[in-house]
Amino acid sequence: MELLPVLQQRWSPNEFDMQHEISAGEVDLLLEAARWAPSAGNSQPWAFHAARRGDARWHQLTPHLAGSSRPWAMQASLLVVNLSHLYVADTDWKYSEFAAYDLGQAVAHMTIQAHSMGLACRQFRGFDKEALTATLEVPDHWEITTMTAVGQAAPTAQRSPGASSRDNTIVWPRD
Ligand SMILES: Cc1cc2nc3c(=O)[nH]c(=O)nc-3n(C[C@H](O)[C@H](O)[C@H](O)COP(=O)(O)O)c2cc1C
Repeated sequence: MELLPVLQQRWSPNEFDMQHEISAGEVDLLLEAARWAPSAGNSQPWAFHAARRGDARWHQLTPHLAGSSRPWAMQASLLVVNLSHLYVADTDWKYSEFAAYDLGQAVAHMTIQAHSMGLACRQFRGFDKEALTATLEVPDHWEITTMTAVGQAAPTAQRSPGASSRDNTIVWPRD
């Protein structure tokens, strides 16, 4: 029994190849992978706003990148805004107790699909959430949770310090 190679090999690069371009078909496949993730009651409490480097949507997103993510996120061939469906519209009723949990699963699906296609992803929170929410006119009952930078890892890309350790994972019972 072995860990799946794609799980073993997945990592989050801190540099992407700026020459790499992602096709519309590849973007569709990534979104399709997210769509097939499990969710509570099949509620699919997620949405994705995808922008290829240089397109009009990309120009809307990039001003909101934080300084910490800007260097590599600007190089990525695709930026995806990952949103969770928090409330039923115009109410304070939760749309799903599991919205963020389920979005995370969908993004994990997308990430693994990307890596199996020879791409790499770096999920991130380093952006101005309020400003991006305003720019994208995200309705009140939705929330931007994270973004994902997708592309081909640059040959010089490195993993964040400590990223290869999994020492914080706790599994009970320990014996
Ligand atoms: C929800 C989430 C938010 C993250 N936010 C950032 C971020 O803002 N900046 C960053 O450089 N990396 C960010 N990361 C990437 C993690 O630091 C990275 O996945 C972790 O160090 C493990 O490394 P690995 O993905 O290479 O295994 C984020 C990852 C997740 C899942």
